[in-house]
Amino acid sequence: KSIVILISGRGSNMEAIVRAAQTEQWPARITAVISNRADAAGLTFAAAQGIPTAVVANKDYPDRERFDAALRTVIDGFSPDLIVLAGFMRILTAPFVQHYAGRMLNIHPSLLPSFPGIATHRQALAAGVKVHGVTVHFVTATLDNGPIVAQAVVPVHQGDTEQTLEARVLIEEHQLYPRAVRWFIEDSLTIEDGRVLVSEQ
Ligand code: GRF
Repeated sequence: KSIVILISGRGSNMEAIVRAAQTEQWPARITAVISNRADAAGLTFAAAQGIPTAVVANKDYPDRERFDAALRTVIDGFSPDLIVLAGFMRILTAPFVQHYAGRMLNIHPSLLPSFPGIATHRQALAAGVKVHGVTVHFVTATLDNGPIVAQAVVPVHQGDTEQTLEARVLIEEHQLYPRAVRWFIEDSLTIEDGRVLVSEQ
């Protein structure tokens, strides 16, 4: 199977997935890492692993429609079974999302449906929640709102800052996302009535 990973920056989740695929010998290959920014640090790691990389820079396109069309052409050149959004910081158009329905995953650093959007750790601290976390979900046209595949809970400590909370959540992201991607690759996920059923093998 072919997995294409989309990033915008650091790429630590992409790295966790690449490493898991190698060490656990998944029946799948990361066929490309694609970024919307040429300066995404994660591209360096991917290239060093021998993974083909590509940049489709949103700033080169006049609107979302044309950016998404160009991105789709590049992605489909790798014939992916699964698209993994890993810190990919662009809102995608409905036709793009529809094209990859049921085969595009995202990771969001909160316990959805709490705190969609950006600055999730700031939102959690402002709300005073005592538990926070991370969600992997299928991507639908509504932002951070697709069927939930997996979640992990992270405690909020007194005295936490956005940075300390983010670091605690990120550790869980690196565990959760490879596991969820592996479930997809192993055909363990089905969507029924907008909810995900997991049949672990
Ligand atoms: C992660 O916290 C992810 O959940 C969020 O953006 C961050 C990306 O980090 N969507 P990285 O690029 O994977 O290191």
